[in-house]
Order: sequence, then C-alpha cells, then structure tokens
Amino acid sequence: MIEELKIKLQEINNLNDLNQLKANYLGKKGLISAKMANMKNLTPEEKKNLGQEVNRLKQEAEALFNEKEKEIHQALVVEQLKKETIDVTMPGYKFNLGTIHPLNQTIIDLENLFVGLGYEIAEGPEIETDEYCFEKLNLPKGHPARDMQDTFYINPELLLRSQTSPVQVRTMLAKEGKPIQIICPGKTYRRDADDATHSHQFMQCEGLVLGKNITMADLKGALLDMAKKILGDDRKIRLRPSYFPFTEPSVEVDVSCVKCGGKGCSMCKNSGWIEILGAGMVNHHVLEMCGYDPNEIQGFAFGVGIERITMLKYGIEDIRNFYSNDLRFLKQFKEAK
Ligand code: PHE
Repeated sequence: MIEELKIKLQEINNLNDLNQLKANYLGKKGLISAKMANMKNLTPEEKKNLGQEVNRLKQEAEALFNEKEKEIHQALVVEQLKKETIDVTMPGYKFNLGTIHPLNQTIIDLENLFVGLGYEIAEGPEIETDEYCFEKLNLPKGHPARDMQDTFYINPELLLRSQTSPVQVRTMLAKEGKPIQIICPGKTYRRDADDATHSHQFMQCEGLVLGKNITMADLKGALLDMAKKILGDDRKIRLRPSYFPFTEPSVEVDVSCVKCGGKGCSMCKNSGWIEILGAGMVNHHVLEMCGYDPNEIQGFAFGVGIERITMLKYGIEDIRNFYSNDLRFLKQFKEAK
C-alpha cells in the first residue's frame, strides 16, 4: 500500500490533487480506515496486530503526505520568485529637475553677499499697519509723498505693504537702541496698472545699518559691492540727490549701463547710467520715533527692486515674464549663477 502511495505521489504537483489523495488514504472512509472494517470478526490477538499495522500505515502515509506538501509549497515559492524577478535593464522613471526662479536667484545672491558682510536677514509681514509702513517712516496721514506709494488697504489702519521699509521700523523697535545690520528681502504691493515695467505685486530688498560713526561712505561701499555682485565686477555707481521722507540726505543710485558699459546706448537712453535704487542716511526723526538717539547712533538705509535688477542682469524686457510661469522662459535660467 505504501509503495503504491509513493508512486501516486510522484505524479502529483499541486495542493488540490494532494488533498484529494490524502482524503482517499487517510479520510474517515479512506483506504486505511477501510482495513478496520472487519475488525469485529477477529480474535483479540489479530485485532491488536491489525491495530498496530493500521497505525503504522497511517504514520507512514502522513509523513509522506507532509513531505510532499512541503515540496509543493517550495515549488510555488520558486515559481513566485521567478515571476517577480526585477528586470534591472529596464529604463527607470525620469525625474525632471526644476530650476531656481531668477527672482529667487537674485535674492540668494544678495543674501550670500550681505551675510558675508556681517548682515542678518530680517522678515516682516506683508499685511502691515499704516503706522509701520508710513507713519513711523515720517509719512504721517495726508503726507503728499504717500501718493508715490498708493497701495491696497484692508481698512484705514491695515494695508498690503508698499515697501519693505516697515521691516526697518520693526527691527529698530525690537533692538531698542542697539546697532543693526540687516537686509530684508520680501514681497511688496502697489496700486499700479500692470505693464512691461510695473506690477501690482513685486519684490524689494531693504538694507539698514545703524551704529556709531556710520557714514555715507559706508553706504556707498555697500552699494558698490551689491552692484558688482549682481551686475558684474566692472560696474560703477553714482549717487544723485533725491528725496525720501525717511532718509536725509537721500540719494538715487545709478549703475553704469550693463549693456554699453557707460558709453551710451538705447538701453541707458545715451546717458551711460541706469537708475537702480533709492537710499540715504536714516532721518533723525525716524530714529527718534523708533527709540534711537540720533546723537549716539546713525546709519543708512537702501531699498532695491528685485525685479528691476534681475531684468537688468539678464536683459529681460517685460516684468510679467517673472509671474507667468512659462517653462520656456524659466528653463533659460538653468545655468544661471
Ligand atoms: N522704500 C523706498 C521705495 O520703495 C526705497 C528706499 C528704501 C529709499 C530705503 C531709501 C531708503 O521707494
């Protein structure tokens, strides 16, 4: 019987057939149990022998079935592994690398430069109070210079900041009379009609340095460093008198034309110079309003338009290119440094 079972098992290669065969042999009505059918007609001695014989058969059969079951399981695993083999020669997924937006690149360049010069980076909210955006900067309500910076009001005391200068105010109030050396890049808003050079939302980077014996020479040095870093090592700068309510004296800063180098061309309207930013020595009244003693500590401030200098750097003619998310535009700055 066992020999016969061994032969049958050899032909089996799946669990279904195996279970079937197992039932035929070991089931209640299986071949092995059937051997006990005429037990009642036997002598006690014969009964004992038959019992032992049947038990032995059961044990041997069970061992054979277990062994075969293991074999089938193993074969299944091997088959599964074969099916799931990874083809390492298959081409992988393609990940498209983005590029740094040119405006962010300019901010990164400015931060690297000024942090290297010992400045800290300060930030402030884009929704600002009238007090910090104007009043503490020497622009009381009704001041005519407010017209240059009309913005979006949430209510008469709350507005979208028209300049990054309120971060100066916030920093001065927080530093309580101590020296300051910061730049503050960030978004600003004005009620401008959008065209090639204006946008209702744009970016500025403010600078503020306060300390003992800070002079306009320091301002000029910082601005020259900045012009060179962003627009090229051979840039020169020139300061022209100007007016801002929060600086006195105030200057408008020009850089030698990035296209012709100063000879005169269509870009600089034949003047050789291009205006890039406003600056000046912090107005004493502003210092006093923000908790500083102008006899002890003075300094300078400047504010530069991020879009403006980025357009000059790359020769971009329409400011709207920065905001339209056109990949054909953005991908050109892959190699930009
Ligand atoms: N905040 C000024 C502007 O937006 C620029 C500026 C900043 C001028 C700091 C002087 C000092 O026009």
